[in-house]
Amino acid sequence: MKLNRRQLLATGTAFAVLGAKGAAAAPGGLNARVADVQLLPENYGQTRIWDFEGMAPGPEIRVAQGARVQKRLMNDLPDATSAHWHGIRIDNAMDGVAGLTQDAIAPGASFDYDFIVPDAGTYWYHAHNRSFEQVARGLHGALIIEEPDLLDIDHEEVLILDDWLIDPDTAQIADTFGAMHDLSHAGRLGNYITTNGTYNLSKPVKRTERLRLRLINAANARVFQLALDGLDGWIVAVDGMPLAQPRQVEGSFLLAPAQRIDLIVDVTADTGGAGHILHLDRNESFSQVAFEVAGDSARSRRAAPRPLPPNVHAMPDLAEARGLALLMEGGAMGGMRGGMMGGRMSSMRDMMQSGNFWAFNGSVGGMDGAPLATLSRGETVRLKIANETAFPHAMHLHGMHFHELAPDGSLGPLRDTTLLDRGEVRDIAFVADNPGKWLLHCHMLSHAASGMMTWIDVA
Ligand code: C2O
Ligand code: CU
Repeated sequence: MKLNRRQLLATGTAFAVLGAKGAAAAPGGLNARVADVQLLPENYGQTRIWDFEGMAPGPEIRVAQGARVQKRLMNDLPDATSAHWHGIRIDNAMDGVAGLTQDAIAPGASFDYDFIVPDAGTYWYHAHNRSFEQVARGLHGALIIEEPDLLDIDHEEVLILDDWLIDPDTAQIADTFGAMHDLSHAGRLGNYITTNGTYNLSKPVKRTERLRLRLINAANARVFQLALDGLDGWIVAVDGMPLAQPRQVEGSFLLAPAQRIDLIVDVTADTGGAGHILHLDRNESFSQVAFEVAGDSARSRRAAPRPLPPNVHAMPDLAEARGLALLMEGGAMGGMRGGMMGGRMSSMRDMMQSGNFWAFNGSVGGMDGAPLATLSRGETVRLKIANETAFPHAMHLHGMHFHELAPDGSLGPLRDTTLLDRGEVRDIAFVADNPGKWLLHCHMLSHAASGMMTWIDVA
């Protein structure tokens, strides 16, 4: 099947249900299957991917804040799968974590996802069984929850950034999942970078138009360093959650795996030229998305954007917080000697032989061991995460957003995924008000598969 942008949009809007708060729903199916798509430029052959509904990325699911999402996931893949609704404060039974909140859906079987979306913002969904392979093969899509009020914008674009590891001789996805080097170093990095499944995506715009751009990083391990050119922009939300004050983009900003950034941008490039989201890699910059300027908008430049309406969260009470610590160790050049694995002390060599390279608090993580903590509902947690490895990690908590704490101890923005550079320490705080078993793991998916995974239990 050949996939073009027009089809992608048409199917995307078929899922768009606009309406009054609480009234809209997104019913229907979500078919996980194998498809051949023209991922590479036309002079290459088609690429076999695993995807939802035959598209890479999968169909956009778009509903109003407070709406109900009902999706029957039908598994037509050769492997068991599940769907996780990343960043949603969801009912635990619907979180989609195979092995923790549900059994993986066997080939030929289905599972009914049914949940309410309490917060507006930019989210995504992806496979959560052997995710280091299944997400890399294409099992992900955007989940957009609309605010009740319309913004003063001309249009919006959902932009899913990804990198694929392709064998250029065959045009196929390199079947090197779980390669030792990826597990133990920076993770699986692709060699073909796309936006919405397209290389060098470009969009037509008019000068002085105002756009809302919803950026989602669906890559396994790549931290995108991005900048704007010919666009004046403000970051208005991170990981779905509005910033108290829009932050004007100056220089570059980072988008780690699984993170989202909502931008409001004004097109300042001239007619005939183009604005760009630039991807900076070492000392080079590439166009990630081009906005080709054709003519002037009827409107002149607007004033700086106002904040988006906040999503209501309980405020952590730091004075009463329960203190927890998470020490991240291991990996190549990490100097770790060994760790607890399956209840006994193992040497680094034994760990490596079983494909494990990382430890949390001295233990190779997983879902079968004890939780990092058992919390009572409503308790405030302050968690200190220390990255003592030689690599960056994007730590993701399921089920609840957390505040990053500034060095002075003040509450920073709400996030669901926080990037820690090597050697970095970060404190996060949240109110554990969503009952259930919630995963806490690195979203460099090869790392999660080789030890960087734990969970918390909220009673
Ligand atoms: Cu987006 Cu446990 O993942
Ligand atoms: Cu990691």
